[in-house]
Amino acid sequence: MILLNSEVGNYVISNGKKYSYFAGNNYLALASHPEVKAAVIRAVEKYGVNFSASRHTTGTADIHLELESVLASFKGKEDAVVFASGYQGNSILLEILKGSYSTIFIDQSAHASIIAAIPSDVVRVMFYGHCDADHLDYLLEYNRGSSPLVVTDGIFPLTGEIAPLNRIYPVVKKHNGILVVDDAHSTGILGETGKGTPEHFSLPDDDKIFQTETMSKALGGYGGFISAGRELTEMIRERSATYQASTALPPPIAAAGIASIAILKANPQLHVDLVDKAWRLREEIAAMDFQTTHDRTPIIPIILDTPEKARGLSMFLEENGVIAPFMNYPVRKELHQIRIAVSVSHTDNQITRLLELLKKWKEKNESN
Ligand SMILES: Cc1ncc(COP(=O)(O)O)c(C=O)c1O
Repeated sequence: MILLNSEVGNYVISNGKKYSYFAGNNYLALASHPEVKAAVIRAVEKYGVNFSASRHTTGTADIHLELESVLASFKGKEDAVVFASGYQGNSILLEILKGSYSTIFIDQSAHASIIAAIPSDVVRVMFYGHCDADHLDYLLEYNRGSSPLVVTDGIFPLTGEIAPLNRIYPVVKKHNGILVVDDAHSTGILGETGKGTPEHFSLPDDDKIFQTETMSKALGGYGGFISAGRELTEMIRERSATYQASTALPPPIAAAGIASIAILKANPQLHVDLVDKAWRLREEIAAMDFQTTHDRTPIIPIILDTPEKARGLSMFLEENGVIAPFMNYPVRKELHQIRIAVSVSHTDNQITRLLELLKKWKEKNESN
């Protein structure tokens, strides 16, 4: 376990020692942005830490409504509904959409929160090959007439791959299905204005495409949200047990969300700079003959043949002052990888040092 004794920025303090930090999901460095911190402090003074009640009973504050309005406007949707965590979003959505689908088709490498969201009374669940739109098409054809709902991550959190919605969406549409995209890692990152994977692929504004999103990653705060037409958001408020029976997002955290969106809007170049920076690093890593992936996202895996090697690389980096953890995560256990997460705040020196260390490790451990 990596024990942190500081805020997470491009550097952290762990056990009293300073490390260059290529971990976590603080892609836009908003978790410790001065304006975000100031907004949180103001909200703590006004509201205290927590309302200790669900939104449905006495837990809704004016600041929750303000956040929902800010998120709806950011996403260009009629409304948005916020809840306690991104993890809950898939359960809330799949619960509310019940009746509109009978079979669920899931990318075989989907996030744990998607698997956990499968309602217990859904008759059939099928897994299609990772990012494989042809396989999805085959399964949908084979199960014709099944009222399909297809779920995928937008950016896959371990490998940084982008789900090919340009190929998946036409297949879903052909079979008259519903598409759900878990955009936990894409919000604020993908698409011209940071609206996520559907915007990245210029998908049309189709009321059969849904996104589940979180403020805990690029937005630097916490809490899940779904933006959609008011009919759906009202259904969530009125009918979702998960929404109604869990404690509301703490108001200071709602304040963080509002501040982060304001920063995103005022700095439309932020996510472009991040993705460019990550791309340069990814290209250098690939040029060293490390196995990695090839999409323009801030997550760069280094995949090795054995867990021992991957663990060894992560330990070597840590001994040399860089944190890029070995992934022991409840998704894709078959991949032995470290995960490098790039932040817009990483300096050229930090990136150069990381590359030097990777080169050194490679020469020592993988030269033939
Ligand atoms: C793809 C995906 N979905 C959902 C979540 C859950 O989001 P949160 O941590 O904000 O609850 C995560 C978090 O790691 C994730 O990677």
